[in-house]
Amino acid sequence: MYKIQKICCIGAGYVGGPTMSVIAQKNPHIQVTVVDVNQQRINAWNSQNMDELPIYEPGLGEIVSQVRGRNLFFDTDVDRAIEEADMIFISVNTPTKTYGKGKGMAADLKYIELCARQIARVSKSSKIVVEKSTLPVRTAQAIKRILDQTGNGVEFQILSNPEFLAEGTAIKDLLEPDRVLIGGAETERGNEAIEALASLYRAWVPSDRILATNVWSSELSKLTANAFLAQRVSSINAISELCEVSGANVNEVARAIGTDTRIGNRFLKASVGFGGSCFQKDILNLVYIAQSYGLDEVAQYWEQVIIMNDHQKKRFSEKIVTTLFNTVSDKKIAFLGWAFKKDTNDTRESAAIYIANELIEEQASVHVYDPKVTQMQMLADLDYLNVRSCDINSERLIAHQEAYSAIEGAHAIAVLTEWDEFVCLDWKRIYQQMQKPAFVFDGRGILDQKELENIGFEVYTIGIG
Ligand code: UDX
Ligand code: UDX
Ligand code: ADP
Repeated sequence: MYKIQKICCIGAGYVGGPTMSVIAQKNPHIQVTVVDVNQQRINAWNSQNMDELPIYEPGLGEIVSQVRGRNLFFDTDVDRAIEEADMIFISVNTPTKTYGKGKGMAADLKYIELCARQIARVSKSSKIVVEKSTLPVRTAQAIKRILDQTGNGVEFQILSNPEFLAEGTAIKDLLEPDRVLIGGAETERGNEAIEALASLYRAWVPSDRILATNVWSSELSKLTANAFLAQRVSSINAISELCEVSGANVNEVARAIGTDTRIGNRFLKASVGFGGSCFQKDILNLVYIAQSYGLDEVAQYWEQVIIMNDHQKKRFSEKIVTTLFNTVSDKKIAFLGWAFKKDTNDTRESAAIYIANELIEEQASVHVYDPKVTQMQMLADLDYLNVRSCDINSERLIAHQEAYSAIEGAHAIAVLTEWDEFVCLDWKRIYQQMQKPAFVFDGRGILDQKELENIGFEVYTIGIG
């Protein structure tokens, strides 16, 4: 049987940081060390001021301040943490490949492979290696081969333990998961490894919520869960466009179908398009895997979810341009929100980036207020698209510390993230400050359209005809 005393997690990002904080909090007798090659990130995790943690998640600061230095440590000494650990979580990024075979589709596994080689090189005792990052099916096999063939002859058990937390609710999702999924080898040692990991979770998760499967089912379940969730958003977004032309209201439709218990009421909020580090990447990955097995219909079916999402972003920016008399050239457009959803500072794949890019192509001046995203991050996101020079981007995109200055003198406002505070803004004051006609494009359906129209705004809300 395994006895777990020390855990190491490679990768101190959105997944590794919060997950290890909760595991450490609930297992005070186990020493948890989170390591990363990025010194700056580790320094931020070690910061005394909880506002300076590298990621923003409600409730995270409290847990970190409670357990850091007790049995939770953040460090850059990856080798030492690996060597000392009985169990190693791999929680590094697996972005979509930007080069070579599978470019723009497949997951880039180079960081995972580097980790596997490092674990193999350093380990002098048997280890359980846990895949936390979302990975293509059968990655565990590749990891196992690297570990066994380049290692020092010690035993490795590979588990798949995908993380289902959503950003903005990471701590709540970790504390009360719908389920914890653990995939392992169907052997005696495999079962022992599963049991060792399950025992960590049993410190707070009821046993009947801990599901054990084989490794491949676990890996594929993670991709499938994200594909189904993204598909629901694309499905309701497809209906939102139909609502706009037919006079239906997408919120009413969502409520009507959501009461069918077979459908369920969650993930039916029409929006300007889904973002985040997972949905697009995981579907592209699923499409790539299906294609590589020659399953063209399966690939096309899932690809449509992405096509719909791109369309939803594109039609939102086009709506702004056509409504503003077919030109936004040198007009000030205020963005409320840049993050891909509320309660996070993460901007990966956020719809706001693409909409800003389209409007800047039309020579608009984009003024953004997001409570948690810095101007540096916004510009980095735009520059990453590689459409124009960084200088032009920084002339055309200006971040503000508060909403009113972003809005002052604007021709239009676009709501791109559903931050609660946007609803409570003084909309009468805003109306006074804007050019007339004053347009609001609500890409999140959070504002009261009637109330704004009574003030004098011209309002477009996604999915309302
Ligand atoms: C459906 C709707 O459920 C019902 O609300 C509507 O009023 C009429 O259409 P029905 O066609 O009678 O009802 O049966 P349903 O149980 O929905 O099944 C439809 C088909 O889907 C069947 O062939 C069924 O075998 C198949 N199905 C259903 C599956 O293959 N898998 C499933 O998980 C569910
Ligand atoms: C997702 C999965 O939910 C999570 O289980 C997985 O571990 C990682 O990927 P995340 O990307 O953090 O989590 O956020 P999520 O709440 O799923 O939202 C993803 C995107 O979909 C956001 O841009 C959100 O605004 C959008 N969305 C979500 C909608 O537009 N409408 C909805 O009804 C729900
Ligand atoms: P996620 O959302 O999956 O958590 P992030 O990008 O937020 O992804 O975090 C992944 C982290 O993994 C980054 O901080 C990165 O520096 C770290 N990382 C990547 N490769 C390695 C490696 N070989 N060793 C240590 N850390 C790594």
